[in-house]
Amino acid sequence: MDYRFSERTEKLSPSLIRQMYNFALEDISGFVSLGVGVPSFPLPEHISRGLADKLRYDPNINKYALGRGLSELNSEFAKKLKRKGIEIDSEREVLTTTGSAGGIFCTLMALVAEGDEVIIPDPAYSNHIECVRFAGGIPIYTPLIENEEWRLDTEAIKNSIGNKTKAIVLCNPSNPTGAVFPEEDLRKVGEIARSNGLYLLEDNAYEFLTFDGRDHFSLQSVSRDRDNVISFFTPSKEHAMTGFRVGWVVAHPKVIDKVFAVQDQNYICAPSISQHAALVALQGPQDHVNGFREELARRREVMCQGLDNLAEFLNYQRPHGAYYVFPRIIRSRDTEINENAKRRLKEIPERFRTRDTELALDLLYEAGVVTVPGISFGPAGENHLRLSFAGEESDIQEAFDRINNWLRS
Ligand SMILES: Cc1ncc(COP(=O)(O)O)c(C=O)c1O
Repeated sequence: MDYRFSERTEKLSPSLIRQMYNFALEDISGFVSLGVGVPSFPLPEHISRGLADKLRYDPNINKYALGRGLSELNSEFAKKLKRKGIEIDSEREVLTTTGSAGGIFCTLMALVAEGDEVIIPDPAYSNHIECVRFAGGIPIYTPLIENEEWRLDTEAIKNSIGNKTKAIVLCNPSNPTGAVFPEEDLRKVGEIARSNGLYLLEDNAYEFLTFDGRDHFSLQSVSRDRDNVISFFTPSKEHAMTGFRVGWVVAHPKVIDKVFAVQDQNYICAPSISQHAALVALQGPQDHVNGFREELARRREVMCQGLDNLAEFLNYQRPHGAYYVFPRIIRSRDTEINENAKRRLKEIPERFRTRDTELALDLLYEAGVVTVPGISFGPAGENHLRLSFAGEESDIQEAFDRINNWLRS
């Protein structure tokens, strides 16, 4: 068989987040991970009990949820947004998707034509970059301002607009930097998008998770921006439901109709059983969310302490949201790269074979710690590592002990 694939598939890079984890699973026993961003929390008890009841008694749980999602779920989600000061029509302005990742994919496929340019503040969540490329678009990177807590460079965004620009994609709080963008900057970007007739996509996967009194702000709450802003939300992290695969797109009805058409011709709907689970999560008590936030704040301290102890090697901006830190590599060991790391490096796409990827592979094969090379989050990510503090505190501690020992040995 001559295995041939479409050009667009050939261009698609595998996620280094998953690739690093897979190397660890295959090669390293007893590794500890600062890699994937999956909270360690179990499903809250009341969600599993509520879902078990529905499984037993709901006659429709085994069927497709036709329409734009379960209408009860969409209206419960609209109530959640209302508490954030965002008013939407739950019948026309929201679509339940298969994770927000599914929503982002379907939206970019609906909007981006071959050769369209999409402005992406960099570093960015790698799915955004790869989905734009997969849709035939061209990512136009505008670097975030690293030494100002990875702030948006609104001037650079404005100056990047050309006649092929279609959209701007933001991730707030930011994966991978942990930045929470100030309302003032977001309003400026909103104004830039509106006055240039661009779509503005905002990925709010970590909206519930901000620290130090920083608040998450969505441009959906600015009524005149609502025509062109497309927002993604998800219960994945807030309710420890990453495996359920539910998310929401909020947009103008004309956009929702098109995104719905892409979804419908793809996978029909988000799993009904998961939509019911999300409904239980939205309707039930929310105390666990505070618990998650407090626990993650503690883990953030452990991580920052670990990084402070490595100040001559890694320089970081303190994260105020999400559960990531994105330190810059300022020094490493001078030794030759590990032989197994060298072998795995060849399996990584050439454009990602940078110093940070070498260090991440060395950390895996020499110290048994999973990290993610910064280059996979865009060109400005080069020479950085993404570290997640979603895992157990003891693992974070252990990871830093190992990194410390190895770097100093
Ligand atoms: C910024 C960002 N957006 C979207 C997603 C995907 O979330 P979901 O589980 O809703 O597809 C993730 C997952 O890590 C993420 O970090």
